[in-house]
Amino acid sequence: MPEIRTIGVIGLGAMGAGIAQLAIEAGYDTVGREVTAELGQAAADRIGHFLTRRVEKGQLEQGQRDAAVARLTVTTELEALADCDLVIEAIVEEIEPKQALFAELDRICRADTILATNTSALSVTEIAAATTRPERVVGMHFFNPAPLMPLVEIVQAELTSDEAVEAAATVGARLGKEVVRCHDTPGFVVNRVLIPLLNDCVRALDEARVTPEALDMAMKNGAGWPMGPCTLVDLVGIDVHVHAAEALYEKLREPRMAPPARLVAMKNAGLLGRKSGRGFYTY
Ligand code: 3HC
Repeated sequence: MPEIRTIGVIGLGAMGAGIAQLAIEAGYDTVGREVTAELGQAAADRIGHFLTRRVEKGQLEQGQRDAAVARLTVTTELEALADCDLVIEAIVEEIEPKQALFAELDRICRADTILATNTSALSVTEIAAATTRPERVVGMHFFNPAPLMPLVEIVQAELTSDEAVEAAATVGARLGKEVVRCHDTPGFVVNRVLIPLLNDCVRALDEARVTPEALDMAMKNGAGWPMGPCTLVDLVGIDVHVHAAEALYEKLREPRMAPPARLVAMKNAGLLGRKSGRGFYTY
């Protein structure tokens, strides 16, 4: 395995931008890829803003901030990731686009590059099958917001080598994360538990006839959650949650895994949570 010095991140939405932020802060040269220059610039600006806030709060020196920002390159060209030692994909949570991207990366990237997916609940094995190097494909699942949540799941798919798992785990630790290594089962560790739990929270809204505000207050004060479930689903993205729930339901066939009708309707109406300005709450 090559020593990992350069990291590519594909998709600079909330998750990808957060991962790129972690990578540049940890000293990795980082290439972030978005579909348009405008989206790429907006992500770079968001990363710069969060790092400036860390300086203002005394968590980071100005010089460290500037050096971190200088390590980030933003591009629209996949070819710009050809020389990365590790590429982390954080695009839309659907299997076909991910497989198409991995097939393309397999063609573009060096033979020894490790390809990682930040999928929430899709099969890493099925994504790896789109490449000719499944032994070098691994799951690196971060949690939203990636710079703040301390965990990364390192997922070993059917054909992932132990070396690739260790290389990804080493990067996770250098990004400052607690690492849990696990096998490629639907939802891995956290989402296997969290997705049906959040589904139940949404069902409880209607069954117990409470408002999102009341449910959030109840779960914070009665279960010690740092953030109420409606606020959390708004943060994660209604669309991301529905896709993850559908993926889990498809594999496990347990009714609790299926997304509640209320969430599907919100997704279809474009109420995606914080990123669209409206979900359970208005932002
Ligand atoms: N980078 C850097 N800083 C960030 C940031 C980012 N991307 N996003 C927010 N911040 C900053 C905030 O701006 C704030 O700074 P400020 O002084 O400028 O306002 C600072 O971080 C802290 O914000 P808060 O005061 O809101 O921090 P809290 O102490 O309330 O903690 C939290 C925030 C860690 C998000 C906490 O509320 C929490 O743990 N919530 C639960 C989140 C969770 O469960 N996530 C998992 C979701 S499931 C998932 O992701 C899986 C997926 O596959 C679906």
